[in-house]
Amino acid sequence: MEKCLPEYVRDRSWRFLDVGGASGALADFLLDKYPNAEGVVIDISKELLNRNAENDRKQCQQLSAEHIADHFKPHSFDVIILHTLLHHLVTGDYESSDNMVRTVMGQCATLLAPNGRVSVVERVYEGRVFAESTSHIIFRLTSSKHLCRLCKRLGAHTAGVGVRFLPLRQWKTLFRETGYTILRCDVGQQLKPKWYIRWPLLIAEDYHAHFWLSIPDRNGCRHDRFSFRNVVQCVCGKDDERLSERV
Ligand SMILES: C[S@@+](CC[C@H](N)C(=O)[O-])C[C@H]1O[C@@H](n2cnc3c(N)ncnc32)[C@H](O)[C@@H]1O
Repeated sequence: MEKCLPEYVRDRSWRFLDVGGASGALADFLLDKYPNAEGVVIDISKELLNRNAENDRKQCQQLSAEHIADHFKPHSFDVIILHTLLHHLVTGDYESSDNMVRTVMGQCATLLAPNGRVSVVERVYEGRVFAESTSHIIFRLTSSKHLCRLCKRLGAHTAGVGVRFLPLRQWKTLFRETGYTILRCDVGQQLKPKWYIRWPLLIAEDYHAHFWLSIPDRNGCRHDRFSFRNVVQCVCGKDDERLSERV
C-alpha cells in the first residue's frame, strides 16, 4: 500500500473506509501521515473498536462487512481497505463462502468514488497436490466443531468458525470476476511454517500479497471479465514471468 497510496492521493483531500479495521492502527497511521485524509473504521468486534484512539478525523462503527452498502452513501470513499479480512468471510461451507466474499467486493464497488481504489492484503497459500488443497484443508479444520479445541491449541484463533484462504490465481480471478481491474499486485517474502504445519496442510508456498484494485471507468474502458488485458501492472513472480518484487 505504501507504494501505491502516495502517488494516488498526492496532496488532495480523501476519505477511506477500513473494513475489519480492528483497533485502528492503520487508520491512525494514515491520518497521521495524510492531514487531508479522514476515515471510517468498521469492525464486527465491539471490543476491538473500543481500543481505537480518539481522532476528530476518524469515525468508528460496529458493522459487519456484508452490510456496508446499507450504511454508507454510494461513491463515498476514495480508498476502501480490506486488510486480512476477506479470509474471515465464511458461511457454513467453502463454496457459499465464496459468494459472501463476492458480495462484499460488490458492495465495495458501489461505495467507491469515481477513480477510487480498493487495497486488499491476504495471506496466500499455494497447495501441493493442487493449488487450492491447502485452502480446503484449513477451511475444513478451522470450521469443524469437533476439532475446535485441537485447532485452538495449534494457534487457530478462528477454530470452530473457519477461515478461507485462496491461492494467488484464485484471488485474482475473484477480483476480476467481481468487476475490478488489478492495477498492481505485490507479493511478500515466503513464510516458512514449521514442517509439522507445512506437511499435513500440503503447503507448497505461503506468503502475503497486496492487491491494488480499481473499477474501470464506466464510460471509457470496457471491462472484459476474463481478460488478462485488465492487468495494467502485475509484479508477481508466479503469474508473470517478470522479476517479482518482494515487499
Ligand atoms: C486479522 S484481523 C485484521 C485487522 C486489521 N485489518 C489488520 O490488518 O491488522 C481481521 C479483523 O476483521 C474483523 N472481522 C471479521 N469478520 C468481519 C466481518 N464480517 N465484518 C467486519 N469485520 C470483520 C475481525 O474482528 C478483525 O478485527
